[in-house]
Amino acid sequence: MLFSASRLLAAVVAGAGVADAVFSIATTDDIKKTAADVAWDLMQYYKGNESGQTPGILPGPPPAGDYYWWEGGAMWGTMIDYWRLTGDDTYNNITTQSLLWQVGPGQDYMPPNYTASLGNDDQGFWGMTAMLAAENNFPNPPSDQPQWLALAQAVFNTQASPDRHDDTCNGGLRWQIPLSNNGYNYKNSIANGCFFNLGARLARYTGNQTYADWAEKTWVWMRSVGFMDDNYNIYDGGHVEHNCTDINKAQFSYNNGVYLLGAAYMYNYTNGSDVWLDRFGKLYNATVKVFFPNNIAFEVACEEHMTCTTDMLSFKGYVHRWMATASTLVPPYKDQILAVLQTSTEAAVSTCTGGANGRICGFKWSSKAYDGTYGAGQQMNVLGAVSSLLITHEAAPVTNTTGGTSKGDPNAGSKSDHFTGVVTPPTAGDKAGASIVTLVILGAAVGTFGWMSTGS
Ligand SMILES: *[C@@H]1O[C@H](CO)[C@@H](O)[C@H](O)[C@H]1NC(C)=O
Ligand SMILES: *[C@@H]1O[C@H](CO)[C@@H](O)[C@H](O)[C@H]1NC(C)=O
Ligand SMILES: *[C@@H]1O[C@H](CO)[C@@H](O)[C@H](O)[C@H]1NC(C)=O
Ligand SMILES: *[C@@H]1O[C@H](CO)[C@@H](O)[C@H](O)[C@H]1NC(C)=O
Ligand SMILES: *[C@@H]1O[C@H](CO)[C@@H](O)[C@H](O)[C@H]1NC(C)=O
Ligand SMILES: *[C@@H]1O[C@H](CO)[C@@H](O)[C@H](O)[C@H]1NC(C)=O
Ligand SMILES: *[C@@H]1O[C@H](CO)[C@@H](O)[C@H](O)[C@H]1NC(C)=O
Ligand SMILES: *[C@@H]1O[C@H](CO)[C@@H](O)[C@H](O)[C@H]1NC(C)=O
Ligand SMILES: *[C@@H]1O[C@H](CO)[C@@H](O)[C@H](O)[C@H]1NC(C)=O
Repeated sequence: MLFSASRLLAAVVAGAGVADAVFSIATTDDIKKTAADVAWDLMQYYKGNESGQTPGILPGPPPAGDYYWWEGGAMWGTMIDYWRLTGDDTYNNITTQSLLWQVGPGQDYMPPNYTASLGNDDQGFWGMTAMLAAENNFPNPPSDQPQWLALAQAVFNTQASPDRHDDTCNGGLRWQIPLSNNGYNYKNSIANGCFFNLGARLARYTGNQTYADWAEKTWVWMRSVGFMDDNYNIYDGGHVEHNCTDINKAQFSYNNGVYLLGAAYMYNYTNGSDVWLDRFGKLYNATVKVFFPNNIAFEVACEEHMTCTTDMLSFKGYVHRWMATASTLVPPYKDQILAVLQTSTEAAVSTCTGGANGRICGFKWSSKAYDGTYGAGQQMNVLGAVSSLLITHEAAPVTNTTGGTSKGDPNAGSKSDHFTGVVTPPTAGDKAGASIVTLVILGAAVGTFGWMSTGS
């Protein structure tokens, strides 16, 4: 089945243009109303609760539709933040249904349907959403179902398992999980970033130092392999046959976001250590410098010529959400983070004047006008940004000792598939678009995606 935009969007005009802003974020009530409308428009892309459809996923994965499996997991994280910050529980039931439907037979977010493009990052995004649910006391599943904290631990444990670690490049996780997948020979920042982020959060939530040790080790490896350089620029990754020295220097905002949030948790977990304050501050500075020109979110690798893939069109929203949560964990940076997010969000909502209903959001926030593009990513970005304006100290993530009620299992994930057997080779379709950021395929075109441009 090919992707078809919802009826609502079918009449999207080709031309971009300046129209009067329809959304306001001037007051708390305005923010909630705007977030509710943007959330509703986002949910029009979700068909998983209709008969015959698969719960949890956006239309896809390609070629069946535009969206890879991971983006569904990322979207439910956006919806959990929407609920925790606005109090609107309209979408809680479909969120729970989705997060439980996709756990897979090992209850570790490795459902066999998506093996052919299963990366540590893809699994990691679902795991981070389960963690978010635990940290915000999102309503717990019935007791005969897997629990949020245990799901996050299962993802972490499968990734900490010896069979996902080897000595190539002196350590670190590979991108893909099954060795027959395209991209198994690539080690990258986002796969290790999701693992780092989960480790930092599990350490703070449970108080178990083992998780923090993994987070520390991952950060040190990222610096030593050069994926995070001395100026705290984060690059995409490198291949094991080159000892990861063939670094693809493309920079994506979700890498900065995922490490920045993890560093915030480590700062908080270590009771405000100087080491993590310094790491956090330097990465924060680099993030604003590279991805927030004039304090407005900008996807530097692809935005100027609009060569962003569907994946890349969703990164800004995660960065906004993760920076907002970081602001609650690292008080010395709270004011400056919130100031940047405010300016960026004002620009974001000014793009929401498109589509048949006149309020569909675009991607080029700095142009402060609708740019003619639309999709779940564009809506998710603005929803993440607008909801995040409601962040308060009270919305800081809870822990096991400060009210968290989710039940954990330190041994979760022990029944997982280790992919040691013969794996069916991916089909042509799967190969064409393995997983997050088809970037590896673009690897040759370091930093420039110009060849993908349609010239429009
Ligand atoms: C699916 O969920 C959306 C959002 O809550 C809702 O509007 C829609 O009616 C649901 N569809 C079905 C078939 O339940
Ligand atoms: C969610 O599900 C519960 C239990 O099935 C039901 O009582 C409740 O009305 C549902 N809420 C919404 C908003 O659909
Ligand atoms: C896997 O695919 C089958 C067949 O399309 C579908 O019924 C099932 O819900 C899918 N499971 C998941 C976890 O996506
Ligand atoms: C701490 O986490 C490690 C790694 O998952 C686990 O092996 C250990 O059992 C945990 N300790 C406790 C006290 O839960
Ligand atoms: C591979 O790179 C690491 C630094 O990341 C270096 O310490 C190691 O010596 C290199 N190994 C080889 C075989 O070149
Ligand atoms: C943080 O401080 C608390 C209370 O003093 C202490 O119990 C805990 O061990 C400290 N955590 C770390 C990682 O040092
Ligand atoms: C950790 O986060 C909590 C919750 O926001 C905050 O109250 C506390 O001050 C933070 N700890 C440090 C050391 O900044
Ligand atoms: C971040 O940049 C500001 C402004 O240039 C500078 O004053 C500050 O020292 C930097 N922070 C860190 C941790 O390097
Ligand atoms: C918090 O952790 C302790 C020690 O692992 C455990 O006994 C307790 O049940 C946990 N609390 C919750 C709400 O899971």
